[in-house]
Amino acid sequence: MTSPETSPFDLTDRRIVISGAAGGIGSATARLCARQGARLVLIDRVPAGEIRDRVGAAVADSAAIHSLDTGCRRAVTAMAEAVGPVYGLVDTAAIAPFDDWMAEDWDEALDQVIRANIKGPINLARAFLPGMTARGEGRIVLCGSVAGWMGGIRSGPHYAFSKGGLHAFVRWLSRQGAPHNVLVNGIAPGPVETGMTAGKGYDPQLYPLRRMAKPEEIAATAAFLCGAGAGYASGAIFDINGGTHFH
Ligand SMILES: NC(=O)c1ccc[n+]([C@@H]2O[C@H](COP(=O)([O-])OP(=O)(O)OC[C@H]3O[C@@H](n4cnc5c(N)ncnc54)[C@H](O)[C@@H]3O)[C@@H](O)[C@H]2O)c1
Repeated sequence: MTSPETSPFDLTDRRIVISGAAGGIGSATARLCARQGARLVLIDRVPAGEIRDRVGAAVADSAAIHSLDTGCRRAVTAMAEAVGPVYGLVDTAAIAPFDDWMAEDWDEALDQVIRANIKGPINLARAFLPGMTARGEGRIVLCGSVAGWMGGIRSGPHYAFSKGGLHAFVRWLSRQGAPHNVLVNGIAPGPVETGMTAGKGYDPQLYPLRRMAKPEEIAATAAFLCGAGAGYASGAIFDINGGTHFH
């Protein structure tokens, strides 16, 4: 609940796990949540030093940092045990291979996408949801995509498939969390200027705003969803897509 004295965006002393923290949206989310007062746990599959560099020392040096593959249940469970109680989880870890689904070896790419984009969120939710429900409060924010609604602007079928599944998972998970005051929501960004899209042929002139989103414009929704102001949002997928798709 918000009170007149407290900002609906305030995250003071909220402990929040951010996965994909070395990425464009994840690192922007880390910096914004820190600015709102959160204490952070930063996760990515790249080495800890790279996570620190991408997030920036000013924020990363006061955070716990874990380098692991979120697609590995064992690694995620061990990390969650080491981390202990957290209030929030923002998962932005994902991959988006740009390849040919008719290629002989494409099924390997499909497996990798399922591992990162589907097993990752499931592993993280399985590791952190029980503690949140036991404590009677928590927030989980998962990253979907406009591709999960309309098949994607440039992405492949594995990515679109995974993000459509992610949207359904958000709804399923929200029903597990809601009775325990654990709010689960998703974000479905349109094209965002990050490493995921760099050099992949995205043409900003084709989009209604004539530009791609900045990572900070997605991070703002992620941080909002962790704050008191989002206290009645549950099972929603927030379209932050610059008008590239309506539904
Ligand atoms: N950039 C876009 O246009 C766009 C659009 C829609 C949705 N999204 C989604 O937003 C989220 C963030 O994407 P981004 O644009 O910041 O991408 P990004 O590539 O900049 O960041 C993704 C991060 O996730 C990490 N990662 C990938 N697989 C992992 C794994 N198995 N375990 C741990 N870490 C892993 C990567 O190392 C990377 O640091 C993703 O879920 C992505 O699908 C992005």
